[in-house]
Amino acid sequence: MAILPIIKAPDPRLKRRSEPVAVVDRDVRRQLADMLETMYAAPGVGLSAIQVGVARRLIVIDVAKAPDAPAPLKLINPEIIEQSGDTILTEEGCLSFPEQFAEVTRPTAVVVRYLDEQGEIRTLRADGLLARCLQHEIDHLEGKVFVEYLSPLKRGMILRKMAKVKRLAPAEA
Ligand code: NI
Repeated sequence: MAILPIIKAPDPRLKRRSEPVAVVDRDVRRQLADMLETMYAAPGVGLSAIQVGVARRLIVIDVAKAPDAPAPLKLINPEIIEQSGDTILTEEGCLSFPEQFAEVTRPTAVVVRYLDEQGEIRTLRADGLLARCLQHEIDHLEGKVFVEYLSPLKRGMILRKMAKVKRLAPAEA
């Protein structure tokens, strides 16, 4: 396994739409393992492949908190097939936007269909942090980042801060 560099905003790659995975093979499983290791090291609760520069529809999530055991999820070609009518406003962050947080409104609960590492179709019902995380990561696969839900003013503030951080530490990008 390997820890991969995470792309930081602003970066055009984060706006790219990711391609579906046609065959779940060893390459895909290795990519997911690397993504999970990268996410834990960051540390974070979710990561999409595009955040490590790979435009394939892969995400990893673990919303378990110590002292609970880790509960890693690896999802291939995930799609939201149902979402609740009620929504919730909660603070959100992103590993591609370090130290930036903002409140985003999203449906409270979702049902997601995906392929597991064996290529089997699975369905996952989620609410709370897991539902939020699934929506955030699936957005990444569409080239959408959480700041797009914010007002232009708030979004502009965050993007200017990110651009400034990048100018100060170009090697880290
Ligand atoms: Ni993110």
